Amino acid sequence: MKSVRVGICGLGTVGGGTFNVLMRNADDIARRAGRPIVIEQVAMRRENPHCDTTGVKTTSDVFDVARNPDIDVLVELIGGYEVARELVLTAIENGKHVVTANKALIAVHGNEIFQAAHEKGVIVAFEAAVAGGIPVIKSLREGLGANRIEWLAGIINGTGNYILTHMRDEGRTFEDVLAEAQALGYAEADPTFDVEGIDAAHKLTILASIAYGVPLQFDKAYTEGISRITFDDVEQADNLGYVIKHLGISKRTEAGFELRVHPALVPKECLMASVNGVKNAIEVMGDAVGPTLYYGAGAGAEPTASAVVADLLDVARDISTEHNYRVPYLAFSGIGDGDNDLPILPMEEITTAYYLRLLAVDRPGVLARVATILSEQGISIEAIMQKEAIEGELVPIILLTHRTREKHMNEVIRQLESLADIAGSVTRIRVETLDEDA
Ligand code: HSE
Repeated sequence: MKSVRVGICGLGTVGGGTFNVLMRNADDIARRAGRPIVIEQVAMRRENPHCDTTGVKTTSDVFDVARNPDIDVLVELIGGYEVARELVLTAIENGKHVVTANKALIAVHGNEIFQAAHEKGVIVAFEAAVAGGIPVIKSLREGLGANRIEWLAGIINGTGNYILTHMRDEGRTFEDVLAEAQALGYAEADPTFDVEGIDAAHKLTILASIAYGVPLQFDKAYTEGISRITFDDVEQADNLGYVIKHLGISKRTEAGFELRVHPALVPKECLMASVNGVKNAIEVMGDAVGPTLYYGAGAGAEPTASAVVADLLDVARDISTEHNYRVPYLAFSGIGDGDNDLPILPMEEITTAYYLRLLAVDRPGVLARVATILSEQGISIEAIMQKEAIEGELVPIILLTHRTREKHMNEVIRQLESLADIAGSVTRIRVETLDEDA
């Protein structure tokens, strides 16, 4: 059968991994696809010392690939927003199928790209955009197709999880571990995308669209990073039976969908608490299947290449299928139906439990005032601890609350911070139990 001819754009970490996996496993990949998948051309700014490109056509201009009549599938691995958008749209315009690992591109420009691809009748596949090598897009889009997805939550940034894990286990500094994650090829070109939650929000946006059949709405995602997490909070969480993880969470409610990325306390006994290092995990709750968990390497050259090549296999199998019989890009056809009109909820409307840490003057009545402020907002306290004084008369107070609306907690924090007996700002970390009715 005719080969599928691939043009790889970008020979960096993921491009190099994809090149090597396609070369190394060419025979098995051909048997799985039912036809050879051959690298016809590679566009790269510089050689990758881990790849032997001898005998492969190369170019320094990615647009050569997008316009090359001998290419069936363009593999976009250059990253970033604007050039990648132009490259992918040019490839689509030239009738090429596209495989990309670019979560920023799909989260921000996906609606436009899928519309263009639909009009041309070409495939755009993006398994590698979310959670590296874990086939979570395929699972959610196809394997869980019978279900109404109720919620999903996960650790979807390998760099952030790598940093939190090594800081906690080895007492190392944030900067030290970040430098190591960069050297290992896990971090984004701009590592603030990892530590400030932007990368995770890109991925969560994609997952939520596929879960609920709603358009991509990255601009509505709430994003909070890990850079303000202190070792003190890590220790207090540990004492209370929790681990701090950086989560992406999306839930269906009657009023709309939650879409939020932030650090969270998760109970030590839940599986997510044991996801360490660069590993990612996503829990998905379907109404028929119940909870399911997807775990594996969330970043790195060959784990991500594994997902890119899986997409190439799908393209090779579907290339001669009539476009309307292919799996829809975002899992649902007929966008505009179902829950499509439900909004992404503003953060004030989400419901969760909270960990609070405050510094109070050690005098009679302070704890009572704190409790009164919470009760006036209808918030029930699950646990309260007053620690020994640390700075003169100031004592840390740690609180765990039951679930409440974020807007009530915002009001509590506003009132607490205005009390003369409370010093500085109140630390708030959300608590997620990740149980079946989360
Ligand atoms: N920087 C990303 C991460 C790479 O650390 O998860 C994979 O998307």
